[in-house]
Amino acid sequence: MASPNARAQQLLDDATKAAGHAYAPYSNYHVGAALVTADDRLVTGCNVENSSYGLTMCAERNAIFRAVAEFGKDVRPVVLAVALESGVPISPCGACRQVMLEFNPDMVVVFRSPAGVEERSARDLLPDAFVFPKGAGDDAE
Ligand code: THU
Repeated sequence: MASPNARAQQLLDDATKAAGHAYAPYSNYHVGAALVTADDRLVTGCNVENSSYGLTMCAERNAIFRAVAEFGKDVRPVVLAVALESGVPISPCGACRQVMLEFNPDMVVVFRSPAGVEERSARDLLPDAFVFPKGAGDDAE
């Protein structure tokens, strides 16, 4: 943990602002995410809940999926910040960590912690993650 650089702080501010769009009538937990792609485009996301709770989608995955939808399958998020609108510390859930790894294991994930601002790689946040075992399916020889 170190004092955040200007880029990390700006992205946390963008994520906090994006949290203002959250649809969270059940948890009242307004989460925002902001990512920057390798070619320097900004994409934001927020959590979107549902009365059938399991259909809820997190802010981080909404931002990543939106980046893919807007810029194509080869999009490379290089930094992703996640924040609660209130400013209370939050770190990404396990499902979001797995999705981050899919698009860039070296992605720098920025979030507030009780100690300050964390900047950690997606790889570091989910050790021993699942990777698709090509050629090792049940129908493999
Ligand atoms: N949530 C996120 O948006 N990101 C996370 O990493 C963890 C949880 C949302 C999902 C749900 O709408 C609310 O926070 C409470 O779990």
